[in-house]
Formats: sequence, structure tokens, C-alpha cells
Amino acid sequence: MTSAADLDRGELELTGRLMSASNASFLGRIGGTVVVYKPVAGERPLWDFPDGNLAHREAAAYLVSEAFGWNVVPRTWLRDGPHGFGMVQLWQESDPEQDAVDLVAAENTPEQGWLHVLDGIDEHDQEVSLIHEDSPALRRMAVFDIVVNNADRKGAHILAMKDGHRHGVDHGLTFHKEHKLRTVLWGWLGEKLTAEELEGLDRVRGQLSGVLGDALAALLTPLEVDAFAARCDQLRSEGTFPAPHGDMSAVPWPLF
Ligand SMILES: Nc1ncnc2c1ncn2[C@@H]1O[C@H](COP(=O)(O)OP(=O)(O)O)[C@@H](O)[C@H]1O
Ligand SMILES: [Mg+2]
Repeated sequence: MTSAADLDRGELELTGRLMSASNASFLGRIGGTVVVYKPVAGERPLWDFPDGNLAHREAAAYLVSEAFGWNVVPRTWLRDGPHGFGMVQLWQESDPEQDAVDLVAAENTPEQGWLHVLDGIDEHDQEVSLIHEDSPALRRMAVFDIVVNNADRKGAHILAMKDGHRHGVDHGLTFHKEHKLRTVLWGWLGEKLTAEELEGLDRVRGQLSGVLGDALAALLTPLEVDAFAARCDQLRSEGTFPAPHGDMSAVPWPLF
């Protein structure tokens, strides 16, 4: 095990690049620990998010995940690296045999354990359905996404772990003060939150008045922190999974 001090300050050695990445994202190692490293200098400018702080949003998303206590986001922190300051995240070896989100022929939609999101036509003119599993771990991720206002929950940003746990990654597009929820996890639309999910929201809201609020204030603007608190309060008082709204797309593109 690499110590916390080493994870913060030990040498970060680059070993590769993440292929699907839209930004300059690297695979690396600190001692024996495998990490993802995304330098701020490698962030691609976006029209709707300010420059130079996607890494901070990833760190903020981790802190919120910790406040929920659901281990959605792998440990994420800010530090220096070979390409300058950026975010570092523990690498999680996912199970190639499992998919939490899938595209299936429309007539093959499983009847149990899966939820239907939308239908479309694939490149061979076949009708296909986007589905995701109906599991507590994925539901918790969906709750997390609603409050952090995740604008990029695509299939590739969900890691299916061998033991059934699901991790979310790539949280640079979060915490915008305007509604930006773009996700493939719409399967619980209109369903009531469970007692456990409501308790998670209460934990986050409670900590927002203390340590979590202080930590987020160092990573986000005051308006973004206020908007985050308001989303927590709204979801808590409605108590159900919201429907898409606004005129932007409700799903990310590509979907995977
Ligand atoms: N912490 C992680 N553990 C395991 N796989 C990861 C992790 N972070 C990212 N990945 C994998 O790498 C891919 C690209 O990473 P991502 O964070 O989406 O980078 P980018 O910001 O460049 O899009 C992800 O889709 C996922 O498959
Ligand atoms: Mg990505």
C-alpha cells in the first residue's frame, strides 16, 4: 500500500494514455499504486464550462461521493505531476464480463433486472434499445448524478466491478450552476427514493454546512455551491427521480 503522503507527494510516473479520452488523460503509477492522471494543461476547452478547472470538479465530485458514503467515485485528489497540476484518481480494475449499460436488439430486451431507457435505429437499420441494470449501486450513482448535475454519464463512465459494485468516473462536467444533467441512467424516472437514498441526501446536506461546504468552497464558485445545495434540497423534498427537462439533450453523446 502506498501511504497517503506518498500518494500526495511521491513520484508520479506515467505508463500510458487513456485511449477513449477526449482530454489528455494518462495512466500512471505512484509507487505500486495505479492511477489516472489528468493535468489541467491537457483539458480541452469547452463552450459551456470555464477553462482550467475540470480537475477541481472531479475532486469535488469525489468529496460529495464520500459524504454520501456510497463509494461511487474512486479516491480522487489534486496534485502536481509530469505535465503540471491536475487530478489523480485511483485506477479500478473493472470486470470485462459485466456491463451495467447495454445496447440490445429491441426484441431482446430482458424482462427482469434491466430497465429500458430509449429506442433507436443502429447503423444497420435495426431497432435497438438502450437499457441499464436495475441495481442499488447504479441507483445510488443516479442519485449522485442528479445532485452533482453530471453532464456526461455515458456507458464508458460506469465501471462494473467484479463484486457487483459500480464506480462512476470522469466527473469533469459537473456542478454547473445551470441544469445540465445528461445521463443514460433514466430508468427510475418517477420512482420514489428509498429510505437509504434519502438518508444519503441528508448526510450530504448536513456536511454541506460544515467540512464538505468548506472543501467545496475551495474547488467551486459560491454560486455553484449554492446551486448544488439547492439541487440537494429539491431532490430531498420531491423524493422521486426527476424527469428530463429543459431544451438540451437529456443523454450524453455518444451514449458509450
Ligand atoms: N479510475 C479509473 N479506473 C478504471 N478505469 C478508468 C478510471 N478512470 C477512467 N477509466 C477508464 O478510462 C476511460 C477514459 O477516462 P475518462 O475519465 O473518461 O477520461 P476523459 O476525461 O479524457 O474522457 C473511461 O471511460 C474508463 O473506461
Ligand atoms: Mg470520458
